[in-house]
Amino acid sequence: MDTVFPFGFPLPTAFYLCAHLGVLMVHIVFMNYVLAGAAYLAGHSIFHGKTDNGTDKPVSPIAKVLRDWMPFMLSAAITAGIAPLLFLQVLYRREFYTANLLLFYRWMAILPVLIAGFYLAYLLKSKRIGSWPLFARAIIGIGMFACFGFVGWSWVENHLLSINEAAWVEQYQSASLIYRSSELLPRLSLWFIAAFPTMALMVAWQLYYLVPKKDRESELQVDGSQIIGSKQITWIALVTIVLTSLCAGAYYFVMPESAQQTIISPLALPFLGLTVLGTIIEIVGWLPQLKQGIRRKWLIVVTVGLVINFIGMAVINESTRLAALDITMLYERHAQSAQVGGKWVFLIFFLVNLALMGYSIRLTKDRKPTQS
Ligand code: HEM
Repeated sequence: MDTVFPFGFPLPTAFYLCAHLGVLMVHIVFMNYVLAGAAYLAGHSIFHGKTDNGTDKPVSPIAKVLRDWMPFMLSAAITAGIAPLLFLQVLYRREFYTANLLLFYRWMAILPVLIAGFYLAYLLKSKRIGSWPLFARAIIGIGMFACFGFVGWSWVENHLLSINEAAWVEQYQSASLIYRSSELLPRLSLWFIAAFPTMALMVAWQLYYLVPKKDRESELQVDGSQIIGSKQITWIALVTIVLTSLCAGAYYFVMPESAQQTIISPLALPFLGLTVLGTIIEIVGWLPQLKQGIRRKWLIVVTVGLVINFIGMAVINESTRLAALDITMLYERHAQSAQVGGKWVFLIFFLVNLALMGYSIRLTKDRKPTQS
């Protein structure tokens, strides 16, 4: 672990590790929107009460955007989960499947729970729900968040079990469907809190493009700009960026010593620097928007910060797994996998899919607003 990631690994292993992290980051972007967005909607559905004269309070613009986009973003999160799943199987087949099998139908429960979450997301988006009583809306909002929270928890639990071979026999003998680990809560909390800055940035971009072009950069109206919801989304981003750093620091102290040492070893240290740099850039990009409202140039700055942060976090996260497993034992198998044909087919479909995704985004961006 004394060479910077990924240079110390043989070519096939380095390729699979980079490919895995590259596609995993895409999954994480959409997953963050879904997880943090569902939490926001759950909170909104609880606290969105009545005004003094008994009418419903207006729905926050952030909640409107989230409701509107939640089913799409959920499909994107699920679809984008497939690619890292494939690379994960090449990289850590034995570890991943053993954890799957040990958690048994608890693991399989992800599927029906995701389907239930999907329906709840559509229900929350429907017009009909507006006429339902507050408690019914709150149940739908909380239910949807609970579904996605369960899926996130399952992934974290599966990950922790997969890298702790010493626990496998006991887990099997106990026939427990829950894997208890002191790392579970801090790790899950970190993933959960870290989802908010990404969600905030994505929603900020959406709010920006929902305003007519001529009004986007105009001066003080509401919340410092024409874009209603600017201040709230900026505060959400800033507060959760700080909380994410605190959670990451706290998690560091409960990790096994080997993981701590790997994070500060030459393998991952430059990437720790990247996360700090990315975080600073994100804060620098958000702060002016507290006063000015959402501005395109600052959103670009935050986006650059987030990308840098993501790259750093992805490698740090992987380095904790590398600290727990002896990856040298897997080199041979990675080399064998690299000999299997299909690289070009994969690349062609990868490019076709990229083009299709770009086209879909363009179509959505250029759509005419619906009359309501
Ligand atoms: C709302 C749905 C989902 C949520 C909230 C979610 C959440 C998460 C979280 C929190 C992690 C990090 C686990 C860790 O490293 O501790 C993760 C990793 C991952 N997720 Fe998802 N996920 C969702 C759906 C999916 C689906 C449907 C797939 C597959 C099709 C998927 C594929 C993956 C993969 C491959 C990883 C990497 C696991 C690893 O490196 O050990 N996810 N997800």
